[in-house]
Amino acid sequence: MNWRIKPLALILESAEKKSLTRTLGAFQLTMLGIGAVIGTGIFVLTAEAAQKAGPGMMMSFVIAGFVCAVTALCYAELAAMVPVSGSAYTYSYAVLGEVIAWMVGWALILEYAVAASAVSVGWSNYFVGLVERSFDIDIPAAFTSGMHVGGVMNVPAAVIALLVTSLLVLGTRESATVNAILVAIKIAALTLFIFLAVPVMNMENFEPFSPNGFMGEISGMGIAGAAASIFFAYVGFDAVSTAAEETKNPQRNMPIGLIGSLVICTIFYILVAGGAVGTIGAQPVIDPATNLAYEPGSADIAIACRQPDNADKLVCSGEPLAHVLDQIGWKTVSKLIGLAAFLALPSVILMMLFGQTRIFFAMARDKLLPFNEQLTKIHPRFHTPHVVTIVTGLAVTVFAAFFPVGVLADLSNSGTLFAFLTVAAGVMILRKREPERHRPFRAPGVWIVAPLAMAGCAFLMFSLPLRTQLTFFVWAGIGLLVYAVYGYGRSPLGQNGHSNGATKTPAPAQD
Ligand code: ALA
Repeated sequence: MNWRIKPLALILESAEKKSLTRTLGAFQLTMLGIGAVIGTGIFVLTAEAAQKAGPGMMMSFVIAGFVCAVTALCYAELAAMVPVSGSAYTYSYAVLGEVIAWMVGWALILEYAVAASAVSVGWSNYFVGLVERSFDIDIPAAFTSGMHVGGVMNVPAAVIALLVTSLLVLGTRESATVNAILVAIKIAALTLFIFLAVPVMNMENFEPFSPNGFMGEISGMGIAGAAASIFFAYVGFDAVSTAAEETKNPQRNMPIGLIGSLVICTIFYILVAGGAVGTIGAQPVIDPATNLAYEPGSADIAIACRQPDNADKLVCSGEPLAHVLDQIGWKTVSKLIGLAAFLALPSVILMMLFGQTRIFFAMARDKLLPFNEQLTKIHPRFHTPHVVTIVTGLAVTVFAAFFPVGVLADLSNSGTLFAFLTVAAGVMILRKREPERHRPFRAPGVWIVAPLAMAGCAFLMFSLPLRTQLTFFVWAGIGLLVYAVYGYGRSPLGQNGHSNGATKTPAPAQD
């Protein structure tokens, strides 16, 4: 195994050559974080989390939020030290070497691209709900879901994925102003929900609190399984770190942006989840044959949810926040919540797709990707990396068209958790290897925080459904193969002799 390391000085230098203008401050970064974070997780997956954990999903939100918080502290330390694009991929290259960096970059494809598909499906749920509620039109289920759940193709999800891809090709970058407006819309929608739902909660709805137990009898179920899924609701805060190259005084602003956006989202999530549980209840739909809760996203639960007894349950709704308000009598406001999701979720898709192109850009800059010349071609008129955007966008469209939102979110989480785990390990390794290096932000209690982050990510990874874990390992295997066949021989580090046995020989101090 070759542990080529890209020295930090080299990373900072190559970023400097192609550097972007530093325009973002702490407030914009926090807004960027909230813009990327609040999306399908809270607006849609709340229902799936309820099916997995019942009212206990509130605890799932706390667990997932805690794992993200400790990881964010590690991210903040690295992001402030290495304020360049590429996020976890770049940090791993500096700390853990090329092969791990490649694996992280490969896993980030799952995080960003598959997340973009999941959010497209979530958007489709709200779009369909909004049309049906507002115009009394019934869109045939065959065109609003993939084959897994008895449909043919999720047409709205595919269309929105294609539309966002086209916008990115044309060079639409969400301006700070548009982002701020959309963040305001999302915050307003969630605040309205909390104000209308929390005061009319009925405490009986919290009983039984944990109908499927902590670990669940089936893999991926229970409070732990719901935490692993709802983790998706927090994904995106690390997108803040991908903007490090565009940040003013990143040493101060990066940690504020990362941790600030996370804290704000966590508070909202717990209140929204409480409001949903307390008003209409969150008990799972049970399979009479096994006496166990159905797995969300399965064909069986889709059939069970069509029965009149179950149809109005939280766990059966594809647009749970609008559904809750509709059920407690706020019909018009429920449409407004639907409208908010309809308007704001595409920006999350845009952020995820954009993040993906940035990761590809960083990997191609290191010559690790096959076809890297073609993939990073810049369009002569639009000045955008149109090839990589179109290829990614088409893959995102296909996944959005055919897979259920929960399955996609879980898969995206597996990639994210792997990247987070690596970042937490990287912080500790760098503290040992380069203790003298200037750290503008030091993760407090790093010897507790980083192991907690690693343990938390590993715990969530193994709480995902078995099927997701297997898919992740197959994906990782394919990644290793691509690296062995392609990247290993082509990397300039291998050719320029920067290769070293870094795990054995400490790298020299870079500054
Ligand atoms: N956290 C983002 C969402 O929930 C990805 O949509």
